[in-house]
Amino acid sequence: MWGSNKKKKVLVINGSPKCENSSTMVVTNAFLKGMKEYEDYDLEIINVQRLNFKPCLGCLSCWGRTEGECIIRDDDIKMVKEKILNADIIIESFPLFFFGMPGILKLFTDRLLSMMLTYRGHKPPENGESLHGLRYYDENKRFVVISSCAYNEVDLVYDSVKAQFDFICGKDGYYGIFVPQLKTLVDIKNENKLNRFLVKFSQAGKSFMENGNLDKETLSNLSKPPFSDGAYKIFLDQFWQEEKDGKRS
Ligand SMILES: Cc1cc2nc3c(=O)[nH]c(=O)nc-3n(C[C@H](O)[C@H](O)[C@H](O)COP(=O)(O)O)c2cc1C
Repeated sequence: MWGSNKKKKVLVINGSPKCENSSTMVVTNAFLKGMKEYEDYDLEIINVQRLNFKPCLGCLSCWGRTEGECIIRDDDIKMVKEKILNADIIIESFPLFFFGMPGILKLFTDRLLSMMLTYRGHKPPENGESLHGLRYYDENKRFVVISSCAYNEVDLVYDSVKAQFDFICGKDGYYGIFVPQLKTLVDIKNENKLNRFLVKFSQAGKSFMENGNLDKETLSNLSKPPFSDGAYKIFLDQFWQEEKDGKRS
């Protein structure tokens, strides 16, 4: 048992502009299902696309205030920040866009600047900790990043996402689950294949809820592609041909 004995609060921040239709959320839901198999929890899902918020103005004034309040007061960010602070487990779920997070999620992330400590000219820590340090660090809180992409494998294409979260949270401050080829697996509507693929995410969710962590071997296993390179190429060629022929619009 990790954390407190109380029923845990789980907050999912869905950064896919497709909201409920996100293929990444298919994996996130499998992970959540496994978590529930071990222990019940309260769940809230926030779709960033539907939030009412403005981009960060860059004034840095939140950093000067004790509670980190933003100068923009009349939108949803204050409410979401409170939910983040109250959650035991935060899962950020999003597709890879241009080798990074989707624009809407980056705009949202910028508005959470006050969750970092101020930068005072210090050098990067040597052990992979958060570059600024986290303002509200809580050893009992867990942060999981789940992302999917179209590419064959996650090496290379996720380097900038990994670097960004390493810098923000520290290398050990989050668990990154990066899934290749996912949208195709969801789109082809082969339920047996999809369900077989999702089992390992549910198992990982269950083990995560039990132990409060995910080991490197599990994370690497979750990043294995569902299709062989050859099969995947055939699916993609077919997809783009249908697109070209106007069969998909
Ligand atoms: C604007 C845009 C940019 C994308 N950039 C990448 C990319 O850099 N690398 C990649 O492998 N897939 C990329 N993709 C594909 C998505 O990551 C992939 O389809 C993902 O599984 C969709 O997840 P979702 O259904 O949860 O939104 C991109 C898709 C879009 C729409």
